[in-house]
Amino acid sequence: MNPPVFAPARGPHLPGSQHWRHTAPKAATLGPDPAPAAADGGRGAPPGLDLPCQDLLLVRDWVLALTTCRSLGELVERLEQSVEHLGARAAVVFPWDQAAAALSPALPTASTEAWPLAALRTSALSASIMARGHFWAASDLDAAARSDHAEARALGWRALAGIPLSLRDEPVGLLYVAWDTPRRITTRERTLLELLAQHVAVSVANASVLAESRARAEALERADQQMVAYARDLRRVYERERARRAEVQQAYVTTVRVLAAAIETRDAYTGGHVERVAEYSVAIGRALGWDEDQLMTLELGALLHDVGKIGIDDGVLRKPAKLEPAEWEHMKRHPELGAHMLRDVPFLQGSVGCVLYHHERYDGRGYPYQLAGDDIPLEARIVAVADTYDAMTSDRPYRAGLPASVALDEITRCAGSQFDPLIVRAFLRVVESRPIVARPGA
Ligand SMILES: [Fe+2]
Repeated sequence: MNPPVFAPARGPHLPGSQHWRHTAPKAATLGPDPAPAAADGGRGAPPGLDLPCQDLLLVRDWVLALTTCRSLGELVERLEQSVEHLGARAAVVFPWDQAAAALSPALPTASTEAWPLAALRTSALSASIMARGHFWAASDLDAAARSDHAEARALGWRALAGIPLSLRDEPVGLLYVAWDTPRRITTRERTLLELLAQHVAVSVANASVLAESRARAEALERADQQMVAYARDLRRVYERERARRAEVQQAYVTTVRVLAAAIETRDAYTGGHVERVAEYSVAIGRALGWDEDQLMTLELGALLHDVGKIGIDDGVLRKPAKLEPAEWEHMKRHPELGAHMLRDVPFLQGSVGCVLYHHERYDGRGYPYQLAGDDIPLEARIVAVADTYDAMTSDRPYRAGLPASVALDEITRCAGSQFDPLIVRAFLRVVESRPIVARPGA
């Protein structure tokens, strides 16, 4: 809905008005159409200009003033100045509300509309002028004494012109121009008022469009700010959730690490083995460009790769000598035993491959399924290298651990047979960049 126009004409010294008014010959004494020859001198017009020329200058200045308005408030101010040239006391614009099909409160804002103006806006007179759609005037409201002029008389007006505002055959509003003394509105004044009304209609429409554009821009700005705030909130929620997930994952890893260490105590000769296998495996995975989720799964798998040994008899597991064939067959069951133990633990499902396949060989001569090449899950091929390297460099009751350089040579020699060459190359890169991989003293 358009905001409201009450524009009581002011005195001649209006702030901000001189920039456009100085070229307009003051016509405050305009009355009945004077003869052109007599009109020049009496109004302070530039010498040599006849009345039509004065009117042209007046209309030109109205156009300049009204068509450059940037707000409805400015429009009201310039309209006040315009009607002063016709000796009028007030000018009022009621914009037309298309949605409500009714006149809106007087410009520039609804809050400035006094109750007599509201009465005039909703009066039978305003409805009648809008319905007829053309210029209307009363030269003496008191003399007419008509009931439908009561609202205008209540405003102290004695002569009144009402001009419907329209643009492209669509109503834009209603303009009232009022005088505080009776006067006959001449044909010339009517023509000037109708010209003024046409430009007021354009200005009201433009100002309304501008106001709507500003409102839309402000709404978009608010929506944009809300979107930014929403995105910020979403990011906070995401970061909290990520931190919580990291805590849960860390709790899982800690639990698995404790479990793996507890299981390892059954094999007194492998102290710290699973921790080192996990460290080597994660280093290889990182060298291959794996993301954090993949590394987490790999670390859990490496920690648990020998969990099946919990089902191996102590006599076999702790035997300080070479195993007999039957004992070796029993020992070779630990990958399947481990996988069976983990089958009902959802968060460890991604790690089962490490447990079940870490003794498969790249050439297909491993156990338990004799898988070969890429048929062996990649994480199991990683753990196979890490597990073998740590086993070779660890001390056992029946032999001392090999030096790291010897173990690395053996790993390299077995690339393509026991181990995936891709994993061996990645492991060597890790060893070159991270000496920590070699066990202290190894
Ligand atoms: Fe194993």
